[in-house]
Amino acid sequence: MTHPTVAILGAGSMGEILAEGLLRAGWEPANLILLARREERAREAERRTAIEATLDPVAAATGRDVVVIAVKPKDVDHLLSQIKHVITPGQVVLSLAAGVPMAVFESALDDVAVVRAMPNTPAAVDEGMTAYCGGVHADDDALALADMVLSAVGETIRLSEDLLDAVTAVSGSGPAYVFLLAEALTEAAIREGLPHHAAEKLVIQTLRGAGALLSVSDKSAFRLRAEVTSPGGTTAAALHTLEDGGFRALLERAVQSAAQRSKELGAIALERSGESNKN
Ligand SMILES: NC(=O)c1ccc[n+]([C@@H]2O[C@H](COP(=O)([O-])OP(=O)(O)OC[C@H]3O[C@@H](n4cnc5c(N)ncnc54)[C@H](OP(=O)(O)O)[C@@H]3O)[C@@H](O)[C@H]2O)c1
Repeated sequence: MTHPTVAILGAGSMGEILAEGLLRAGWEPANLILLARREERAREAERRTAIEATLDPVAAATGRDVVVIAVKPKDVDHLLSQIKHVITPGQVVLSLAAGVPMAVFESALDDVAVVRAMPNTPAAVDEGMTAYCGGVHADDDALALADMVLSAVGETIRLSEDLLDAVTAVSGSGPAYVFLLAEALTEAAIREGLPHHAAEKLVIQTLRGAGALLSVSDKSAFRLRAEVTSPGGTTAAALHTLEDGGFRALLERAVQSAAQRSKELGAIALERSGESNKN
């Protein structure tokens, strides 16, 4: 199988996670290039990934099948100003920048296929969850190319752009909620008298096992939970405390807050790009 050539613009955490995932998925290093803005970062990324890292945005972006935007949202406008004259309609621009609307890319790049994606960090172990949407010029071939790149690091789902704030709040930020649960459960286990290493091992394997069971089982989370909850038993006692303390409502509010913040950041990104287009 021939893999598309991919430029990853922004050799930071997400850029490196994707680069390493593409290598694991069989991409040749020669079909990949990373863009950094500091010599030291470029050499570090090269040492870690064995992929060429350049400081030249034009050399990185020119002629690649897929151009991945992996800089922080605040740096997107500047990066676009550096590459827009070399991006051609045959290329796919795949943005990972959280909250930056497709309109920002489409107004800077004429007639180019834009795909906006929201990945998450379990991509580092090929267990990522990425939702993406296609812009007005993204035809089936462009979407298939973007999907091929994104699925190198986990599952993908195509949704409409208006749902990406909700995606950000659920799967984008979701790993942090699970890590918080792991922290809190480990602390509770230690307070119950378990040694630190045992508490950590019990929690990590429980999260891993429950996640694996949920993902392979044809039963819903509700059913699986009911099956481990005998009336009057220990799990029932714990779940009663969680429900009583507002666990479900709190999670709902947390997701709402993240989605709201994602909307606000999107509005800021649009405003910033409007300003930079005027200049
Ligand atoms: N990390 C996550 O969990 C996650 C999840 C979903 C989406 N994302 C998205 O992925 C993107 C990258 O996030 P990150 O966490 O990987 O950030 P990061 O670690 O800061 O990486 C961004 C990299 O881009 C470099 N950069 C910025 N402007 C550049 C330019 N004009 N030319 C070349 N390099 C440039 C930065 O250089 P310096 O080193 O000099 O700053 C930095 O190394 C963000 O838009 C974020 O919203 C991240």
